[in-house]
Amino acid sequence: MSSYLITGARIVGGEVADLLLDNGEIVAVGTNLEAPAGVETIDAKGLIALPGLVDLHTHLREPGREDAETVLTGSRAAAVGGFTAVFAMANTDPVADTAGVVEQVWRLGREGGYADVFPIGAVTVGRQGSQLAELGAMADSAARVRVFSDDGDCVWDAALMRRALEYVKAFGGVIAQHAQEPRLTQGAQMNEGALSGVLGLTGWPSVAEEAIIARDVLLNAHVGSKLHICHLSTKGSVEIVRAAKARGLDVTAEVTPHHLLLTEDLAASYNPVYKVNPPLRTKEDVEAVREGLADGTIDIVATDHAPHPVEDKDCEWSAASPGMIGLETALSVVQHAMVDTKLLTWADVADRMSNRPAEIGQVGDHGRPLEAGAPANVVLIDPAVERTVVPAESKSLSRNTPFEGMTLPGRVVATFLRGTPTVLDGMPAR
Ligand code: DOR
Ligand code: ZN
Repeated sequence: MSSYLITGARIVGGEVADLLLDNGEIVAVGTNLEAPAGVETIDAKGLIALPGLVDLHTHLREPGREDAETVLTGSRAAAVGGFTAVFAMANTDPVADTAGVVEQVWRLGREGGYADVFPIGAVTVGRQGSQLAELGAMADSAARVRVFSDDGDCVWDAALMRRALEYVKAFGGVIAQHAQEPRLTQGAQMNEGALSGVLGLTGWPSVAEEAIIARDVLLNAHVGSKLHICHLSTKGSVEIVRAAKARGLDVTAEVTPHHLLLTEDLAASYNPVYKVNPPLRTKEDVEAVREGLADGTIDIVATDHAPHPVEDKDCEWSAASPGMIGLETALSVVQHAMVDTKLLTWADVADRMSNRPAEIGQVGDHGRPLEAGAPANVVLIDPAVERTVVPAESKSLSRNTPFEGMTLPGRVVATFLRGTPTVLDGMPAR
């Protein structure tokens, strides 16, 4: 196993220090550390060292749509984005609703070696919303599933949602809800408002998200389990979660990079690259989710990396699949929207993109402060450079980035997974 001495990095944006990585661990943090024989030195002057990022919401498409993404290509893109762990959503084909499928995804992640891949199990059989999946068997499997979600669809049946929360309570699992009231969003194409009327696209009203969040916060308060809200996107949703936390209720929430930066007016181009579920919202909503992330109402940033092949995006808006890729741009978008605006410090970024998601997902080897004895899951970033997003440069198999042509700050220079570089000089290490 390789050993590295990283010199002169700003540790989570604070003090400048050296980091010695050996045998998969951070063995020393300090100044003027000597490189033992055979240790490679990386000059990290001007770079920030953060704990490896953790994405609680990634779509890897394997099994079933390996033309859009595989576990290997998705986790490689994740590493390039600074992630050392990703949680793979269950809306694959077959659906990840059995121990067999989650173990397959978990094993493919291990074989790839670019990031730890933690499968999310489906809440209901086939994500059909009528019968609980074998949650216990997935939890007991080698993949040790703790997070369950029907993401892509909402668990809309209140009785089933209640049973799911009760069931996972036995082993401390969490239900991650895609909050979308289906009857209120039938045929919905974009945010509901004046613009959807002008464009002639069916609207997706904020209340369809907020009604489910409010319901589930109350259901979870009743059951006393763990509820996580996926990709919260409206001002009203932030207010509901803020009120719930003020009452001491146990709920966590995520926001995506695209909802922190982009607004619904992009839909006026009718370019389906901007079609996503939940949809891009208004400027007021963007301000509210930024504030919510800053004050801790929203716990984490999660990418909702949703790769789609060209034929599913290069078509008429209403026929296109919703979703955007985002693993490689997440940190830059967060720097732009949250750090450069002084809403978050780099220590906060480590909290929202590493410590907290690892905690919610219950993967203790990730999200640990950069201290001696911690696993060497580390990312080095250069906050001072800018780059223009070019879809063809993506390591994802898909190209559907909404940030094409945008110039964003920051670049991931190196990523280490248990001391092994997965990315060096901004490129996959193998
Ligand atoms: O835009 C989305 N795409 N939202 C989801 O919830 C699912 C995802 C996908 O799987 O493509
Ligand atoms: Zn979703």
